[in-house]
Amino acid sequence: MGKKAYPLMGGLLILCILYALVTHTSTAVSTGGAGQASPAAAASEPAHPADEADDWQLILVNKTHIMPEDYTVSTAKVGAYLVDRRIAEPLSEMIDAAAEEGVTLRIGSAYRSVAYQRDVFDRNVEQLKKRGYSEERAKEITSESIADPGTSEHSLGLAVDFARGDNTDFVESYEKTEQFAWLSAHAAEYGFICRYSKDKESITGYTYEPWHYRYVGAKHAREISAKGLCLEEYLGEV
Ligand code: DAL
Ligand code: ZN
Repeated sequence: MGKKAYPLMGGLLILCILYALVTHTSTAVSTGGAGQASPAAAASEPAHPADEADDWQLILVNKTHIMPEDYTVSTAKVGAYLVDRRIAEPLSEMIDAAAEEGVTLRIGSAYRSVAYQRDVFDRNVEQLKKRGYSEERAKEITSESIADPGTSEHSLGLAVDFARGDNTDFVESYEKTEQFAWLSAHAAEYGFICRYSKDKESITGYTYEPWHYRYVGAKHAREISAKGLCLEEYLGEV
């Protein structure tokens, strides 16, 4: 082989190495949760919904499933609100998609630290006490719609409340808004479910919240919505 062939072979070798690196990197990004290119990306079927690497999407926090004390949330901002950074992209995409169809989704609450959740809970109890309820009754009533500190999905950074109009007034009449109609048709495509449905109050333990959306990933959200389940049912935790 002539001396002139060596630079050519060296160049070919470098090209091969670069090609192998690029191919490997793009595969890793498209299958990872955080680097999920599209909220609609498909994944393989697990034996149990929460058996795969995406199990963070299905973490169950409710009245009987307390958040692990050492649970940490790495947040990112969507508008003025913090969420788990892994849902910032699908949430932004959902808000943008709604806007393109003339529907404005306004976040009114998103990530809440356990301490902040305690404030929300305690403030509600105080308001009820001022209206004449005993402390015990005020706590009972509050627990129907506000999670005890350490048991809220908001503290996972995986839940978002959409406000009606410009305020943060979360009321059942949200179900009559164009936002709710849009979310009912499209939220699952972006990985979100309406978490506290009217017909699941006895299972979720919370009164109907048409404004509260929980990220579970597109694959799970589609299945949960199509089957008309709540998260507890989907996970076999009923
Ligand atoms: N409103 C829901 C249950 C929460 O406080 O997390
Ligand atoms: Zn909420």
